Amino acid sequence: MNKAELSKEELANLDEAQISTNENSTGKRKLYIESYGCQMNFADSEIVASILRNDGFSTTSDQSEAELILINTCAIRDNAEQKVRKRLQALNALKRTKPELKIGVLGCMAERLKQKFLEEEKMVDLVVGPDAYRDLPKLVAEVDEGHKAVNVFLSREETYADISPVRLGTNGVSAFISIMRGCDNMCSFCVVPYTRGRERSREPKTIVAEAIDLFEKGYREVTLLGQNVDSFRWKNESGEVLTNFAQLLEMVAQISPEMRVRFSTSHPKDITDDVIYTIKKYDNICNYLHLPAQSGSSRILELMNRTYDREWYIGRINKIREILGEECGISFDMIAGFCNETDEDHQETLSLMDLVKFDYGYMFSYSERPGTPAAKKLKDDVSPETKARRLSEIIDKQREHALYRNQLTLGKTYKVLIDGFSKKSADFYAGRTDQNKVVIFPKENLKIGEYVWVQINECNSATLKGEVVEEELVKC
Ligand code: SAH
Ligand code: SF4
Ligand code: F3S
Repeated sequence: MNKAELSKEELANLDEAQISTNENSTGKRKLYIESYGCQMNFADSEIVASILRNDGFSTTSDQSEAELILINTCAIRDNAEQKVRKRLQALNALKRTKPELKIGVLGCMAERLKQKFLEEEKMVDLVVGPDAYRDLPKLVAEVDEGHKAVNVFLSREETYADISPVRLGTNGVSAFISIMRGCDNMCSFCVVPYTRGRERSREPKTIVAEAIDLFEKGYREVTLLGQNVDSFRWKNESGEVLTNFAQLLEMVAQISPEMRVRFSTSHPKDITDDVIYTIKKYDNICNYLHLPAQSGSSRILELMNRTYDREWYIGRINKIREILGEECGISFDMIAGFCNETDEDHQETLSLMDLVKFDYGYMFSYSERPGTPAAKKLKDDVSPETKARRLSEIIDKQREHALYRNQLTLGKTYKVLIDGFSKKSADFYAGRTDQNKVVIFPKENLKIGEYVWVQINECNSATLKGEVVEEELVKC
């Protein structure tokens, strides 16, 4: 990608996108993939790169040399879709100067809009949903022959278990492993069950094999991915559960104490004490949980069909603190201005945050998604101004809590996995603690991928700063 050619707005959009890297492979045809949305979508792009590598393609980071450009899209909120439309407009201009260029749309927006994509965006040649990537070689061949090609079939079985992903945009230290696909929950605001289909788990031995392979290649951290990892279940033909999530976590943790294991996303209704105890049992399973709340009001949680209430959520947090202690990192997702939300409900969200004092949060303004239960049955009746005000109150509160949590680390020493350079200076490395906090420290003679002990001596709400200390001096 030649970033210099892009407008400021396009650059801002791209900041959130993951772009394919240059691959030293023999593939003659060049493929450029740009991915939006969640980590699962990024992981899918690595599957796509692998499937197309076997079809003679190699990836590039320069869109101008690509023969095929694929945009892996997200449909979670309207602004996610607007970003994709803007990118497609920019690509349209490119295609006018290079008519032989083929453009495809993958992922959740492709699944949501299906054939309509071809009607709305005339320059798109290919529309492929998340479960149809194995069909890409055939679909690309159809496009090569001058046709448009679409496959948005959703499967009940596909997990791409046998496909070894081509790691894109990797730092060589951390990698994501999809352990399941789809979602069977019906949160009323959410489009994912419609774009990703039914929930299915991947065979554990293929997950462990992928993690071992990564470890042997020098990776030191894997994140196990699913929309609701707690409902991971590998069953035999008669429906008996052979492996649940706690057991899978243990199997991956046993690969090596030198490999950190993370996972996302936990669901408050499903996270078991077994999972929390498994985190405690293994030093290399990170003391960090992402536990989306969505609202602090039981009335709104019911309208959201989250199937838990405020008390249940607080109960789960208390259990986590009881087993893992105050040091366990906890992050959340929250939606401001869902249908019917009153100021009282919003105050309950703020008071839940005060109670937990989360380390980190992902906070959104409610965006109605066509076809979801909320769009069909509830009125999107909170004004954009009120949504924006509530969201900014949530964000401000979270900033205070993040600072509070970060200040608790001052003077303490943490084991940090070095995963890259500091964004601000090449003399500093960035790494993360067990609790998922970003730490910046002087580079010295250290290497990316190594573990170091860092004593924290400065912080703000986003980052910790510290200095490397000798392991023998660390008492904890
Ligand atoms: N499976 C995860 C969430 C995946 S989507 C879970 O159940 O928690 C990531 C986040 O996007 C959600 O947690 C929610 O906070 C947000 N989100 C989903 N749909 C949304 C919508 N229609 N409007 C605003 N935010 C939404
Ligand atoms: Fe969406 Fe709910 Fe499934 Fe998460 S659990 S992906 S929010 S339906
Ligand atoms: Fe977006 Fe699909 Fe992920 S809608 S958040 S890319 S599952």
